[in-house]
Amino acid sequence: MNFSRWRPISISLSPNVERDDLLLAYKLLFEPWKWKGKGTKSSAVFKIEEEFKNYLKIRYAFSFNSGRSALTSILAAIEVQKGDEVLLQAFTCNAAVNPILYLGARPVFVDIDNTLNLSPEDLEKKITSRTRAVIVQHTFGTPAKIEKIKKICERKKLFLIEDCAHSLGVRYKNKPIGTFGDASFFSFGRDKVISSVYGGMAVTNNTQIGQKLKRFYKKLSLPSSHWILQQILHPIIFSFALPLFSFFNIGKGILYLCQKLKILSPSVYPIEKKGRFPGYFPKRMPEAMAILALNQFKKLERLNRHRKQIATIYNGAFVQMGVRTCAEEGSIYMRYPILIENAKEVRRELKKQNILLDDGWHSQVIVPPGTEVENFNYIKGSCPNAERLVHMILNLPTSVNIKEEEAEKIVEKIKKYL
Ligand SMILES: Cc1ncc(COP(=O)(O)O)c(C=O)c1O
Repeated sequence: MNFSRWRPISISLSPNVERDDLLLAYKLLFEPWKWKGKGTKSSAVFKIEEEFKNYLKIRYAFSFNSGRSALTSILAAIEVQKGDEVLLQAFTCNAAVNPILYLGARPVFVDIDNTLNLSPEDLEKKITSRTRAVIVQHTFGTPAKIEKIKKICERKKLFLIEDCAHSLGVRYKNKPIGTFGDASFFSFGRDKVISSVYGGMAVTNNTQIGQKLKRFYKKLSLPSSHWILQQILHPIIFSFALPLFSFFNIGKGILYLCQKLKILSPSVYPIEKKGRFPGYFPKRMPEAMAILALNQFKKLERLNRHRKQIATIYNGAFVQMGVRTCAEEGSIYMRYPILIENAKEVRRELKKQNILLDDGWHSQVIVPPGTEVENFNYIKGSCPNAERLVHMILNLPTSVNIKEEEAEKIVEKIKKYL
């Protein structure tokens, strides 16, 4: 039977998983003694940290069960405290804001420019005597105006943290993104640059921050076996569900049921949308996730080359049509965002044709939709450009599971609605 007609073209349903990743997940499923690991020098946890140190030429790397855990540890290491303000861009994920709230500090939102990255001009305006740190996000793999932002932080004596959740492998003026700030973090979430379903890394070259990170890290525990099992099952269950996704909605039903029965975990827990951390974070990275992440890390260059190749197709078409695009040279295009007035309508119409472009990055200044923005200290009207652009954003998929013909098909379909 040909299942491919029921399998959706999708931006975020397990987009990085290839056959070798799936086989690795199966293997892990039957080796539960490996899940937590011992943290020895032969462990995958040790190896992935070493890989990051070598890749970024940086002294300290600590692995966590998510980017949000990694960010929490960095904020704790620079001693962010109650009453401190931490600046970050609007148009971000609640997972990047909750660590600030968790430590009792105040998030202050900075407007974005048309590349969907932090505006240095608005940053200057939002700094006060209580500001302690700035988090700069390289949205969807396009580097932010990092030199300008770094200069502002140096002048104002603020810590600069790079949010590289979308930008592993990005270089700016031939220097890797993640090496400009005082500390940086990466994410290996399910639809990030590389994926171990959940995972993250904190890095720094600063000895003082590195030592404090180490102390914080040592106090953390590992996630439960049930949580690890949920992540191992993710690629396995998706491999069954996706080919049947739209066949009488069987695949969709399987995924819904597995979440309801807690066989799978969500990428964002309901409580996080209210501005609170569930007990799953902050935690260290378990061995099982490190094994999956290490396998993906080995493929990083190829995965990013593929993204750039798909982006060339979108670029060729949309630039010619005069459609506004957001990504810039140097991007690894974790997504390919375009700005159109009827983004919501296009998402809805393409969904009917089994093309799923809803990755949750739209409609709100703190995503995913459903996030109770007022609980995150966002002041309405404080970031007008972000508030306007979030309704125009249409993200297009670039991941390894998107074939060139599929990218061309997406372009053809969107054309009809422009
Ligand atoms: C920009 C950004 N920062 C931080 C995070 C947090 O990463 P993680 O999901 O690994 O906790 C995410 C993803 O959720 C993100 O998109």
